[in-house]
Amino acid sequence: MNTAAAFRNLYGYEAAGIWSAPGRVNLIGEHTDYNQGFVFPLAIDRRARIAAAPRQDGLLRLATTAPGDPAEIRVTDLAPGRLTGWSRYLAGVHWAFGLRGVHVPGMDILLDSDVPVGAGLSSSAAVECAAALAVRELSGSEVPDLVLLCQQAENEFAGAPTGILDQSASLLAEAGHALFLDCRSRESRLVPLDLAEEAMALLVIDTKVSHAHDSGGYAERRGDCERAAEALGVASLRDLTLPDLVLAAPQLDRRAYQRARHVVSENARVLTAVAHLEAGRPIRGLGQVLASSHESLRDDFEVSCPELDLAVETAMAAGAAGARMTGGGFGGSAVALVSRPEAERIGAAVVRAFERSGYAAPEVFAVEPGPGARRDA
Ligand code: GLA
Repeated sequence: MNTAAAFRNLYGYEAAGIWSAPGRVNLIGEHTDYNQGFVFPLAIDRRARIAAAPRQDGLLRLATTAPGDPAEIRVTDLAPGRLTGWSRYLAGVHWAFGLRGVHVPGMDILLDSDVPVGAGLSSSAAVECAAALAVRELSGSEVPDLVLLCQQAENEFAGAPTGILDQSASLLAEAGHALFLDCRSRESRLVPLDLAEEAMALLVIDTKVSHAHDSGGYAERRGDCERAAEALGVASLRDLTLPDLVLAAPQLDRRAYQRARHVVSENARVLTAVAHLEAGRPIRGLGQVLASSHESLRDDFEVSCPELDLAVETAMAAGAAGARMTGGGFGGSAVALVSRPEAERIGAAVVRAFERSGYAAPEVFAVEPGPGARRDA
């Protein structure tokens, strides 16, 4: 059943519209966004769809086609902590519009998403960005910066201290392109990424190890980076080059040095990757920077896990041009850049390796750079 029909079935009338936004994979540039650095993600061809209609009585009713209880709350009662679970990503957007002085009406909303949850593919940003388009239109408001609005919903309402990578990718990406974003200036540009033309494919390997950015390691890494920047007297790690860091090494303990080295080297790798593609060189040539990024995330930033490492090692051994964990880490997904005719064989090799190691079966699928957030109907 499509989203419009599911809304009609549930609420007994037609939705005012359907809005959708994609999940993302980050090609390269991990844990750099909150250090004001560079990222290079693409939207994937998996999307969160929102069917919505305004209500006159100030009630917000939220439902999902996925397993999950519906939620109901008055718009005037919205506050962080009032809702838990999946519905806080939707309600948080309503709340963030309210903070900006927008009079937001009550609404009936149905979420229908095929972005895998907990897989490090930004299922929550996809929900927020689709909801932001719906709420902006249905409240007749003109809030210009939906990236920051959605990030605020995620940080303050849903309680996950993330950067702007995911929401920027979901809102600004375009089909057939990756998005180069400077997280300090917020300048961005689209870089063509035509995988099919070069007979390449991007495989997502969802390890099924669930990550959660509102607990533990992610916030700890942010803290490590802030302390390292402070110790070195810079506003953020973005302001350092590798030679700067080597010279400043005596001022940092081992762990802070490693965290900083990841961020500084990762920023350089993003610039290398962007320059490579913009010079019209083969996509396959990105393999080495992807592989180095993974090593740095594993050894210096320490956000990988055995399943992600196995996915990357097996894909590389089976002939991938490059592979790395993508997203925040501690589980979630890896991406592998492979030649199209070999995609199936490499995916199967990873599945077999997981089986031999006694890990839960991963899900392997190819993604294409898809369109960003938009109104569908
Ligand atoms: C998660 C966060 C992003 C970013 C990545 C790591 O996906 O939501 O803001 O920090 O981790 O690059």
